[in-house]
Amino acid sequence: MTEQQLENLLQDMSLEEKIGQLLQLTGDFFAGEGLATGPMEQMQLSEEQVKLTGSILSTVGAKRLRSVQDSFQKSHPHHIPLLFMADVINGYRTVFPIPIAQGCAFSPELAKEMARISAKESARAGIHVTFSPMVDLVRDPRWGRVLESTGEDPYLNGLYAKAMVEGYQGKDFGEQDRVCACIKHFAAYGAPTGGREYNQVELSERSLYEEYLPAYQEGIQAGAGMVMTSFNTLGRIPCTGNAELMQGLLREKWGFDGVLISDWAAIRELIEHSIAEDEAQAAYLASKAGVDIDMVTNIYSNHLAKLVREKQVPEAWVDASVRRILTLKNKLGLFENPYKDADEVYDTMDEPEPAHRTFAREAIPETVVLLKNDDFLPLNKKKTKACSQVAFIGPYMEEQGVCGAWSLFYDPEENITLAKALAECDLEIAAPVAKGCSTLAPGQRLLGFQKPVVNEETMEQQAKYLEEAVRLAKESQKVILALGECNQMSGEGAARTEITIPEHQMELFRQVHAVNENVAVICFSGRPLDLREISAKAKAVLQVWFPGSEAGHGIMDVIFGDTSPSGRLAMSFPYNVGQVPVYYRELHTGRRATAQENRFCSRYIDAPNEPLYCFGYGLDYTTYAYEQLQLSKQQIKPQEELTVSVKVTNTGTRAGKEVVQLYLRDVTGSVARPVRQLVAFEKVALKAGETKQVSFTITYDMLKFYDSKMQYVAEPGKFEVYAGGDSRASLMEAFTLLSK
Ligand code: GLC
Repeated sequence: MTEQQLENLLQDMSLEEKIGQLLQLTGDFFAGEGLATGPMEQMQLSEEQVKLTGSILSTVGAKRLRSVQDSFQKSHPHHIPLLFMADVINGYRTVFPIPIAQGCAFSPELAKEMARISAKESARAGIHVTFSPMVDLVRDPRWGRVLESTGEDPYLNGLYAKAMVEGYQGKDFGEQDRVCACIKHFAAYGAPTGGREYNQVELSERSLYEEYLPAYQEGIQAGAGMVMTSFNTLGRIPCTGNAELMQGLLREKWGFDGVLISDWAAIRELIEHSIAEDEAQAAYLASKAGVDIDMVTNIYSNHLAKLVREKQVPEAWVDASVRRILTLKNKLGLFENPYKDADEVYDTMDEPEPAHRTFAREAIPETVVLLKNDDFLPLNKKKTKACSQVAFIGPYMEEQGVCGAWSLFYDPEENITLAKALAECDLEIAAPVAKGCSTLAPGQRLLGFQKPVVNEETMEQQAKYLEEAVRLAKESQKVILALGECNQMSGEGAARTEITIPEHQMELFRQVHAVNENVAVICFSGRPLDLREISAKAKAVLQVWFPGSEAGHGIMDVIFGDTSPSGRLAMSFPYNVGQVPVYYRELHTGRRATAQENRFCSRYIDAPNEPLYCFGYGLDYTTYAYEQLQLSKQQIKPQEELTVSVKVTNTGTRAGKEVVQLYLRDVTGSVARPVRQLVAFEKVALKAGETKQVSFTITYDMLKFYDSKMQYVAEPGKFEVYAGGDSRASLMEAFTLLSK
C-alpha cells in the first residue's frame, strides 16, 4: 500500500476502529488457545471491540494463524490484517543457547545467524514480530531474567543488540523469512532493586546514560521496528507512563519512529504503581508517553474514545499510534499478503532443517565456559590404562528441559540430552549413567513459567538414586556430574536470594566426591551461580547455561575434545551473593583495596572483593600468552586515532580460539571513571604454537563519556590501554589525549 493509501485508510476509520488497532489480545480470543506470560485479567471487552483488535500474541502455527487471519479480516470493517507476535527469544523450533550464553561466545555474528534461523522458522509458523532481543544490561544474578540478556557490559551488549536485530530483520523485515525485531525492555529493566522481578530501578542519570542506555540505542539504530516498555520505574516514574523517556528520549532525541508496545498489562499497572488514579488516567498517561499498543488489557479500548471526545486526549495522539501500527503492517506487506510467510508444510515438517540443528550444535562450544580444568578434560574416547571407566551422573543426564525458561515452541522430544548424545559416542571406555537425583528436591513444587513444576518422587526414591550414583562413582575412574538449577528457577518471575545449586544436588556432589575425587561438573543454569564449593573440590567445571536443542551433542563434543570450549564470561560469577552487584566496570572509589593490609579501604571483612570468576574469563584446552603491546602513538589530538597491537601465542598443544580483549582506562575525568572498560575484542583461532599479532583502532569516540554537565565528550588527559584474555588483563601501555 502506498503512504497515501495508508493515510486515506486512516482517515476513513472510525475512532473505535482506530482504537482497536491499539489493542493486543492473546490468541485464545481467536484461536482457541494462547499463552499467558503474565496475569490474565477478565477482559470486559464487547464482541465489537474484539473484532477491531490490531494484534495478537503468543499464538503460533501456520495453519492456525492463516485461519485466524482469514476469519478476522472478513469481519473487520476495513479488513485490516492482524499482526502476529511471539516471544522467540533463543530459537523457535530449533532452540539455541540462551542469550547470556550467546553473549559468552563474544561473537555477535553467531547471534546474528541464530536470529536469522529463528526468524525463518517463526516466520514460516506465521509470526510477524518477535519480542526479541532483550537488551537489558544485567549485573545482579539474583534476577531471573539475566538468562535473556547478553551480560554486564554496555559495549558487548550493543554489538549483540545490533547483530540480533540484523539477524531477525535482514535489510527489510518485509522480505521472506524475516520478522520485525522488538528491543526490550525500555529502559534499564536489568537493574531492579534487590534483583527482584518488576521492582523499582534506582540509577543516577549518568549511570543510566553511560551503562544502561547505549545498547538500546544500538538496536534502534540498527532499525528495530518495535520497542517494548519495561515494567520498572525509572526516577520513580513507571517507564510505561514516562513521556520524557518515551517521547523525549526515544522518539525525539533518538528518532525512533517505530511501534512502542507496552509490556504485559503494564498500562493497567500504572494504577498499581500509584501514578494513575484509575483506568482513564492510565490510558491518558500511556497515550501521552506515546505507547502505541496496549498489551492484553482493555485500558485503551475502554477509555481512549471518551478521553478523545472530551478533548482530554488529542485525537492526533491516537492517529499517530495507528499510523505507526498500519505502517508496520504495511512494511511487513500484510495488506498484500496477510499471511506473510506462513507455510504449513515447512511449519509441520517431521524434522527441523538439518542445517539449523548442525548450526545449533556447532554454536554450543562457542558459548560454554570452562571455569576450571586441572588437566581433567577432555576425556579420551579410547580406552587407556588410566581411564577404565567414566561414570556420567546427575539429573541433567536425562533432563530434556535444557532450552531455558523462554523457549516456548519447541518439542522436548527433539532435544538431544546428554545421555542420548553419550549413547552415540563410539567409546571404548565404559560410560554408565546414573541419575543421582532430580533437578528439584523430592516433593518440591515450583511455580513454573507456564504451569507449576513438581518433583513427585519420594525421599526413598531419592535415596535409591543417590545410593546407586555413589556406588557407580566408587567403582569408576572418573565422574562427570551434570548438575544445575531447574530450568524453571530462572526466567521471568524467578528471582532468587540464594544463587546456589539446589542443596539436594550439592549433597549428591559431596557424596560422589567423598568416594571419588576425580569429578568434573557440568553446570546448567540461567544465571551466574555461587560455585565456590564445587570450584574448590571438582577437578573441572564447565558452565553450559541452557544450550538448547543440541545440548547433549554440543556438550559431549567438548567433553571428549572433538572441539574446544571457547566461551568467556559475559557476566561475572560472584564469590557469593553478598557481593552482588559485582561487575568489572566499577569505579575506583577513594580507597580501593590493595594487597596491603588495611582495614580502612573498600573491602569486605568476610569475602574478597573480586568475583569468583570475572567478566571475560574462560579457559580453553590450550593456553595463551600475550606480549609486545604497542601503541602507534603516545599522544593524539582530538578526532585522531591510534592503533594498538598485541601478540598472542597459543602456548599449548591443541588448537583453540582466544578472545583477545582490549580495555581502556580514562585515568582522570570531570566525573569518576571506571577502572577499565571493554572497547574492543577479537576471537582469534590459533594452532598450537602459533603467534598472531592482533591490532585494534582506538577512536576518539571510544574516549567519550558523560561529563560533569552530562555532555558526551572526550576530555584531554592520560589513558591506559590493557590487553589480555579477561577483564584482569595486566599488559598495559599509556597514551595522552591532547586538548588540541
Ligand atoms: C512478559 C515479558 C516480556 C514478554 C511479554 C510477552 O511479561 O516481560 O518480555 O515479551 O510479556 O510475553
